[in-house]
Amino acid sequence: MPLNFVGSHILSVDQFDRESIERIFAVADQMIPYALRQRVTRVLEGAILGNMFFEPSTRTRVSFGCAWNLLGGEVRETTGLKASALAKGESFYDTARVLSGYSDLIVMRHEKMGSVAEFAEASRVPVINGGDGANEHPSQALLDLYTIGRELTDQGKTIDGMRIALVGDLRYGRAVHSLCKLLGIYKDITLSLISPEALRLPESYIYSLRMAGHQVIESTDLGQGLQSADIVYVTRTQEERFESPEEALRYKGLFRLNQAVYTEYCEPNTVIMHPLPRDTRAEANELDNDLNDNPNLAIFRQTDNGVLIRMALFALILDVADQIEQTSRTVNWYTAKRF
Ligand code: NCD
Repeated sequence: MPLNFVGSHILSVDQFDRESIERIFAVADQMIPYALRQRVTRVLEGAILGNMFFEPSTRTRVSFGCAWNLLGGEVRETTGLKASALAKGESFYDTARVLSGYSDLIVMRHEKMGSVAEFAEASRVPVINGGDGANEHPSQALLDLYTIGRELTDQGKTIDGMRIALVGDLRYGRAVHSLCKLLGIYKDITLSLISPEALRLPESYIYSLRMAGHQVIESTDLGQGLQSADIVYVTRTQEERFESPEEALRYKGLFRLNQAVYTEYCEPNTVIMHPLPRDTRAEANELDNDLNDNPNLAIFRQTDNGVLIRMALFALILDVADQIEQTSRTVNWYTAKRF
């Protein structure tokens, strides 16, 4: 059953079927002129977003805020656990009751798995999961899938039948977890999972992918795993999820994609993705800066697409997707070319 977005919480990609995803992507496409600053819409004028990030974030927090602003709404936000009353022992229940009195919609991120669902249960307004520990990151997976679709279309390919290599910390990476669930909806995908043994994708995801008819191949060899990939999706070692920084250090730098590795093992047009942030410190450097001029590096197209996807989610949940044009006008300030 397609999701009825209006007034819904978005907690997990399990809520979506193929039709719901296509609806989000169609509305995201509609948002391009607004994200490009060719047009302005005020469809959410007067609405307030509670952007509650109790874990570090740059692009997810700011792009959710920008997406809301681009629809004409105002943003109130909290950054960091220590700056909130959760650090004084307040419950998710109380925090959610309070903040939902101030906002029309809340985006929430917290280090605890299941925290956003617990928060949403007490909220009086829709809540979007901005990342709950190592569990899920639905808006990231949607923007990743949207990017994959656009990049493959440019190459005359489709998501159905593609080969994707997922590299790095597949155990704790919530972006990968949500993406794998979403890919399960498509057909005949070959997934090459490249990770240290200790950071394998949890068995439940592998099982579901295989049950859905996809081919899953696991490997600890980067070169071998990258072969014939249409997409390579690199991830950071999620050091904040380990017992200690020393433990995380054991896994950093084991798989590094740079131009030399790309030239040797990838196809000439393999698309390079990463949810970001990439860890550029010498001991990690999983995605080297020497790829920055490679036209197949899609990481900043992903971040740009994040605004479109988040605008689409807001428009659908607040039921204004059909009203964007009515309050829209052309822009008359200087606009730099972004995309
Ligand atoms: C990811 C996250 O927070 O899960 N970042 C993001 O939101 N783009 C990935 C990461 O932190 O490694």
